[in-house]
Amino acid sequence: MTILNILTYPDPFLRQPVHPVTVFDDALQTIIEDMAETMYDAPGVGLAAIQAGIDMRLIVFDPAADVEKKEYSVLINPEIVSARGQMISENEGCLSVPDYRADVKRYEFTTTKGLDRFGNPLTIEAEGLLSIILQHEIDHLNGILFIDHLSALKRQLYKNRRKKALKNEETA
Ligand code: NI
Repeated sequence: MTILNILTYPDPFLRQPVHPVTVFDDALQTIIEDMAETMYDAPGVGLAAIQAGIDMRLIVFDPAADVEKKEYSVLINPEIVSARGQMISENEGCLSVPDYRADVKRYEFTTTKGLDRFGNPLTIEAEGLLSIILQHEIDHLNGILFIDHLSALKRQLYKNRRKKALKNEETA
């Protein structure tokens, strides 16, 4: 298995909508396994293919973040078909948005439809953390980052901080 390189803000690839998966072959299974390995290595509770530079509507997630069991879920071509209730996702973060966490308004309950890793239809009724993860990862597939849900001021502060950090990396 390969640990994939995770793209970080402001990489323009993270901003494009990605395409549906249409072929469920061995190559796809390898991508899924590499993504899961990358997620546990990071470590994170979810990863969208676009974050690894892969143009596919594909996410892996494990709310338990259990590196021993590695009982992760896969959802392909996911779509949130209904959502209700409001909650604050406290200290939300993203592997593609380094060194930053913030509270984000999310739906508490969601119903998501998609396909499993072999192309069979799947419906996930989610609440709380799982619901947050699904909203966050599906946003990625549409070129949206969690900082897009914050106020323009907070977003600008992060952009400035990130710019400075990248500049320091260059000169270090
Ligand atoms: Ni993310």
